[in-house]
Amino acid sequence: MSLTAEHPQAPSTPLRGDLSQTAVLLELEPVVEANLNRHLSAAKEWFPHAYVPWSEGRDFDGPLDGEAWEVGQSRLDETTRTSLILNLLTEDNLPSYHHEIATLFGRDGAWGTWVHRWTAEEGRHGIAIRDYLLATRAVDPVELERARMTHMSQGYVSPNSHHPINSIAYVSFQELATRISHRNTGAYSGDKVCDQLLQKVANDENLHMVFYRNLLGAAFELAPDQSMRAVVDVVKNFQMPGAGVENFGRKSVQMAVAGIYNLRIHRDEVLNPVLRNVRIFERTDLGPEGERAREELVEIMDALDGAAARFEEKVAARKAREAARRA
Ligand SMILES: [Fe+2]
Ligand SMILES: [Fe+2]
Repeated sequence: MSLTAEHPQAPSTPLRGDLSQTAVLLELEPVVEANLNRHLSAAKEWFPHAYVPWSEGRDFDGPLDGEAWEVGQSRLDETTRTSLILNLLTEDNLPSYHHEIATLFGRDGAWGTWVHRWTAEEGRHGIAIRDYLLATRAVDPVELERARMTHMSQGYVSPNSHHPINSIAYVSFQELATRISHRNTGAYSGDKVCDQLLQKVANDENLHMVFYRNLLGAAFELAPDQSMRAVVDVVKNFQMPGAGVENFGRKSVQMAVAGIYNLRIHRDEVLNPVLRNVRIFERTDLGPEGERAREELVEIMDALDGAAARFEEKVAARKAREAARRA
């Protein structure tokens, strides 16, 4: 498991009795329909324009002959800007995500309705964050546009699209990771307007997580061993969808040190709550293959705990050194 390094995911060998892609999609369709209805009644309509302080905006240099951007115009600190840019570029790659899930889940019936609705909701996130960043002159607009072009030109290919259960497991964790990353960026920013906007985005991500997590729960009821194997594969090879962004490593270390998103958060606030919700550690319906996979998962979670503790010690030591230097 790595949040920064590149580890291509090798699909595990299918178990005997594994459900095919088509069988899983068919079996889960009623669950999708029920959760789509739950989602639609829980999701509250909101408008990105209402969260952007337009009165702070002014023309940029170029055809409108306005004022060129410079860093002093932003009231946000560098870490907040880095985090907002990384989160925005991640949202920007939506056409690729749509392609991945539309190809895997299909565009018909309840699955198709979900795919389109989800895409429309995600589209709001990039719009809202970009408008906020430009109106408040928080980031270099030229650099941002170039980064978007580079990132979207690469596209995104999911390492979990070989099977819907793997994909459902991945997005259950990923939506929660995105929720926490947005929410913590808002809190860290110290800016009320930024925080208010990112809380709104984070609420959407939370509802997406609940949808996928409920599907994952249903997949466990349907195929416990296969689902357990899928979860282990996903946890072991987890990468944020923005991992292809330029300088992702440097950016994610900065966010990790700031406590916006790091291994401790990933293990305790993203992996663990989803695993517990689908009763991973209490299940009594596993066969020998599933039991083996669960044992592997326990080892992975323990190793993550150790790695997170080492990271926390390093950050604490660094902060102590900095405090001593300032004294
Ligand atoms: Fe989003
Ligand atoms: Fe989402």
